[in-house]
Amino acid sequence: MIDLQLTDKTHDEARQGEALVIEPPRSRNGRKLYIESYGCQMNFADSEIVASILFDQGFETTGDYQEADVVFINTCSIRENAEQRVRNRLSQFGAVKRRNPKLIVGVLGCMAERLKSKFLEEEKLVDVVVGPDAYRDLPQLIGQVEEGQKAINVLLSREETYADISPVRLNGNGITAFISIMRGCDNMCSFCVVPFTRGRERSRDPESVVAEARELVSQGYKEVTLLGQNVDSYKWNGIVNFAQLLEMVALVSPDLRVRFSTSHPKDITDEVLYTIARHDNICNYIHLPVQSGNTRILELMNRTYTREWYMNRIDAIRTIIPDCAISTDIIAGFCTETEEEHQDTLSMMDYVRYDYGFMFCYSERPGTLAARKLTDDVPEEVKKRRLSEILVKQQESSLFRLQQFVGKTVRVLVEGPSKKSEKDLCGRNDQNAMVVFPATDGIEAGQYVYVQVDRCTSATLLGTALI
Ligand code: SAH
Ligand code: SF4
Ligand code: F3S
Repeated sequence: MIDLQLTDKTHDEARQGEALVIEPPRSRNGRKLYIESYGCQMNFADSEIVASILFDQGFETTGDYQEADVVFINTCSIRENAEQRVRNRLSQFGAVKRRNPKLIVGVLGCMAERLKSKFLEEEKLVDVVVGPDAYRDLPQLIGQVEEGQKAINVLLSREETYADISPVRLNGNGITAFISIMRGCDNMCSFCVVPFTRGRERSRDPESVVAEARELVSQGYKEVTLLGQNVDSYKWNGIVNFAQLLEMVALVSPDLRVRFSTSHPKDITDEVLYTIARHDNICNYIHLPVQSGNTRILELMNRTYTREWYMNRIDAIRTIIPDCAISTDIIAGFCTETEEEHQDTLSMMDYVRYDYGFMFCYSERPGTLAARKLTDDVPEEVKKRRLSEILVKQQESSLFRLQQFVGKTVRVLVEGPSKKSEKDLCGRNDQNAMVVFPATDGIEAGQYVYVQVDRCTSATLLGTALI
């Protein structure tokens, strides 16, 4: 989880952005919005749409929920513990609401969509519940609350992409930004709640994606990440596919780095790989979640690829983009998974030697295919043990991958001071490795620098900038 809060700084950046598109100044109404986001990058991108919609209504933003008039929590349903975290946070907002009954508390995002009006029954402090496709309705819904009613809109749409809304960049570094290129998901992986909370898959007009990238470049941004649950199935009007969109964005500026997430093993094409290989500014990094290394489990998960198919895609990446970093998501202890099948996941990890991994115990989600058709029969302690074996292997593999950079020079886009020390700067290389090096006069955030790597941990490369 990462908290996303509005700060005055980001607000100023937003105003600058608007000056560029030459809009009349909007009057502020003195009311303050606080928004916090959970879950995937798409949710964070959505919060920037929400902030934009309320900014148009005259709202100021605040990083302190105690002084807010409206508190929004943009929620995630992917695993049970993600939902639990939101409920705990809501009870903290409840304490503020008891002191200030006028405070409006809104639940947005995937939990809002999953629980709908149940939320209003279960959590009395919640005034408004809004699903991911209904954010344009927020001003009207807030109005309803002000008239003393509870308000809800959880309608899903087949068209909504918010293509015309210029996001207010929240809590950003002014250098890297997300661009949503599609919404929803049509895949129906059996464990996954996303198709229920986000609705049908739809792609956004490529011209609006390119226009957003151009606007970011004109504001000084240096990196964009194109977002979708399955970017490889991007399709606009039956003509523009993901490889073509990627190329269109890469051509916006040679100085703009382009990343994307998430690729689906069943859909990633050689055309996409050749496009990455052809453009220096498309980063050599692919997030290609395997979920399991065993074909029977993959079939139960409804992932629609086999172990061999996945390995073939890995081989294609290694051949077409030899220095490409690859990361994964893995679920430990899916329904009926045996010890041997778990071993297949570990051996897949040996085969790929992932640069990064995101690993989870299986968590049954109500309403999903797995919840309806399969039994969540792997005991919790077995799930945890399998997960820890996966985590240990991933740590070894991440270290192995980072060690390959030691003694070499890498090109880094400087993002700002490192988390641990103001005296150090940090940024990522092309393969998405975090690089930390001592700050030196003349090196600023937003610049590309070459860093000589001296050593590494399992998460970070450490070195010295060459100037
Ligand atoms: N669209 C992406 C996944 C988005 S969800 C894809 O297809 O890869 C992010 C990750 O959460 C998934 O890759 C999966 O590993 C994990 N996940 C999803 N549902 C889960 C569940 N019910 N229990 C545990 N992990 C889950
Ligand atoms: Fe969920 Fe599968 Fe869609 Fe990813 S591709 S969001 S895991 S249904
Ligand atoms: Fe969570 Fe919804 Fe994203 S369930 S992972 S916030 S699409």
